[in-house]
Amino acid sequence: CRVRHYKFNVVMKNTSRLCSTKPIVTVNGKFPGPTIYAREDDTVLVKVVNHVKYNMSIHWHGIKQFRTGWADGPAYITQCPIQPGQNYIYNFTISGQRGTLLWHAHILWLRATVHGALVILPKLGVPYPFPKPHEEVVIVLGEWWKSDVEAVIDEAQKAGLAPNVSDSHTINGYPGFVPKCPSEGEFTLNVESNKTYMLRIINAGLNEQLFFKIARHYLTVVEVDASYVKPIKTDTLVVAPGQTTTAILTADQSSGNYALTASPFLDTPISVDNVTATATLHYYGTVANSRTIFPDIPQVNATPTANKFFDSLRSLNSEEYPAKVPLTVDHSLFFTVGLGLNPCPTCKATNGIRVVAAVNNVTFVMPTTALLQAHYYNVKGVFSDDFPGHPPEVFNYTGSGPRNIQTTAGTKVYRLPFNSTVQLVLQDTGIILPEDHPIHHHGFNFFAIGRGMGNFNQDTDPKKFNLVDPVERNTIGVPSGGWVAIRFRADNPGVWFMHCHLEVHTTWGLKMAFLVDNGKCPNECVLPPPKDLPKC
Ligand code: C2O
Repeated sequence: CRVRHYKFNVVMKNTSRLCSTKPIVTVNGKFPGPTIYAREDDTVLVKVVNHVKYNMSIHWHGIKQFRTGWADGPAYITQCPIQPGQNYIYNFTISGQRGTLLWHAHILWLRATVHGALVILPKLGVPYPFPKPHEEVVIVLGEWWKSDVEAVIDEAQKAGLAPNVSDSHTINGYPGFVPKCPSEGEFTLNVESNKTYMLRIINAGLNEQLFFKIARHYLTVVEVDASYVKPIKTDTLVVAPGQTTTAILTADQSSGNYALTASPFLDTPISVDNVTATATLHYYGTVANSRTIFPDIPQVNATPTANKFFDSLRSLNSEEYPAKVPLTVDHSLFFTVGLGLNPCPTCKATNGIRVVAAVNNVTFVMPTTALLQAHYYNVKGVFSDDFPGHPPEVFNYTGSGPRNIQTTAGTKVYRLPFNSTVQLVLQDTGIILPEDHPIHHHGFNFFAIGRGMGNFNQDTDPKKFNLVDPVERNTIGVPSGGWVAIRFRADNPGVWFMHCHLEVHTTWGLKMAFLVDNGKCPNECVLPPPKDLPKC
């Protein structure tokens, strides 16, 4: 194993999309940012230098960060932000993971433009558990906003209302064909007929799950969230913000141009006015100006298509890559996730209420000092460890909306002993509309053992849990008007954020943290913080 050094200069860069130019926050002037390559067992050092006016922090999304929470990145959870003019070296070792992940800013809405791919190759000499592809290609899906993203959310928060959606989705930074703005470019994937290509697909967007398709081509999914799955062949992928999907494309046409599309999946029949992103799959030898063939783009609420995809995912569960599902449960938790309302005297347009979001009716309040520091140095008064393991009352969660619409505010964590096993049922609730929530765990992967619509039934649903080969992920969509059940082992000491990866829901408070106590020191305890850890 090696040590890999990267330098991230956070700088403003004038960028043109959708026929207009604006300055955006970038890493090294790129949108999307640079790809990080490493092998399993490597140590990665990334020096982040902040040259912009915003506070900054970077999260290595999906990296387990065993004992190194200091390098995890969420601002005010594991570190204070890197202030303008300052720098910080993220130092972590990758172990027991290989595949596609992402990195992104974890403060304000800066993730909109500060993100990139994180590719973990297997150890030297270890093959993939599938035939080696001819070529590997990173495909980062994102969003383009014509206005200043920070201003959009600030205004929405002041008004107590939901912000608008982005203006377009993007594929490797480009909206694609529509609208046509000369000289802005688009992403083209050049292929040779009969060769195979590994597509490392990442949804780095802020607020929408995406369908991904390629006209007249199937994709074979081999890995999600950096864990191998049983290969499944499909013509449509669904990737939620924070999720990654690696799929093999066989270039089985003889020539031609075929569109790649990234279009929103909202699960609720409301219309979105942002543009579907397109790119081109181009076969070498295709005659110039030959017409591009488009796929059928799924409806925004094509829930059956999305469900079919998510339900088909299974862990590879081979001898080399066993699914280590916890078979016993020390902590059985039930969390409602959903939107609520709170009073807002200054919100005139909404008659004095504001939209908030909550987990078990608690709207998380960001602290002003990092939780991990407060935990490590035993600073009192920053958080309390009384996060409820169950909702305050039992009701028909997915009926006409929950009754406990007024949430309580607090900086609460749920405390777990080292190495305890956890089963967590995440139940969606509706207030305006039930909405899908891609829930992301920091510090752990989990197994998705069950999923269903309506209210979770404690008597009958556990009988249907898959404890053999459930998919292992770091981000899972709690279906609109439904539930998912996950299991994990709390074998990583520290403070770990859990939140909806739709940035607007995180802002509204759909977040909480687990505190995992130290085990036996030194090997099961949080490492001391690095000397350059930023101060608040
Ligand atoms: Cu990818 Cu806490 O986020």
